[in-house]
Amino acid sequence: MLPAMEINGTAAIVSGGASGLGAATVRALAAAGAKVTVADLNEQLGQALADEVGGIFARTDVSDADSVRAAVDTAAAAGQPLRFVISCAGIGWAQRTVGRDGQPHDRAAFGKVIDVNLIGTFNLMSIGAAAVARTEPADADGARGVVINTASIAGLEGQTGQLAYSASKGGIIGMTVPAARDLAAIGVRVNTICPGIIDTPIYGAGPASEEFKAKLVAPVVFPKRLGTAAEFAQLVRALIENDYMNAEIIRFDGGIRFQPK
Ligand SMILES: NC(=O)c1ccc[n+]([C@@H]2O[C@H](COP(=O)([O-])OP(=O)(O)OC[C@H]3O[C@@H](n4cnc5c(N)ncnc54)[C@H](O)[C@@H]3O)[C@@H](O)[C@H]2O)c1
Repeated sequence: MLPAMEINGTAAIVSGGASGLGAATVRALAAAGAKVTVADLNEQLGQALADEVGGIFARTDVSDADSVRAAVDTAAAAGQPLRFVISCAGIGWAQRTVGRDGQPHDRAAFGKVIDVNLIGTFNLMSIGAAAVARTEPADADGARGVVINTASIAGLEGQTGQLAYSASKGGIIGMTVPAARDLAAIGVRVNTICPGIIDTPIYGAGPASEEFKAKLVAPVVFPKRLGTAAEFAQLVRALIENDYMNAEIIRFDGGIRFQPK
């Protein structure tokens, strides 16, 4: 049998776990036998999902280190060893470097996107891994757990108006290799997923958003459709269970390459 990090009987924490990619990840890990802490700003959706999967909801603002510390403490006290630290919380923002009105990009908006997407991922990865380090090794390799961060292909090839978003996601990509090197000492692997266009509530709901999503499909190579959150969660599970996946930045995008607009 292949060596594989066991999910059953462990604990996991998923930021942004109330919706979209995070919610699908919560369901997949819970179905595999983990006690999952849903760490999200959205109390209503987060509590409902935690109840559905027998997990725990921790109201969390990932940009606030104290809030993340409290959520990680909750996950670590779930009665099973905390092994999986998954960052899915994120926000979008569209503004050009210099707008058509001649105004430079707003400083506060840039900072907010960096705070949530980049500092939020840093907070959960570092505070979460410190808690994973306090568990007993799970196998003969000395493996204790896995960190998975969510960037975006916009962090590799940002489009017009994606200055702040791409900077935040590029930062997450940049943290991957040094974090994997740092956390090797405690038996923790780190991988970053760069999704393309995945059908989640991030694109809103209703006819206008359906029309927008239909346009987004055009440059997808194959299969000619948006990705699904369940496919993302399947990749998270594969990255956890394959012990040799480490320090990797993985495109998950149906072959799409972004054009400037
Ligand atoms: N859907 C896509 O096409 C796509 C593509 C590339 C990258 N991503 C990234 O994937 C991640 C998940 O996106 P999604 O599509 O599932 O979006 P989503 O809007 O469905 O879910 C994001 C979740 O993050 C939570 N959140 C936002 N700010 C937070 C904060 N400060 N603290 C804690 N939670 C917070 C929201 O409440 C929400 O539940 C994001 O980081 C996004 O940038 C998504």
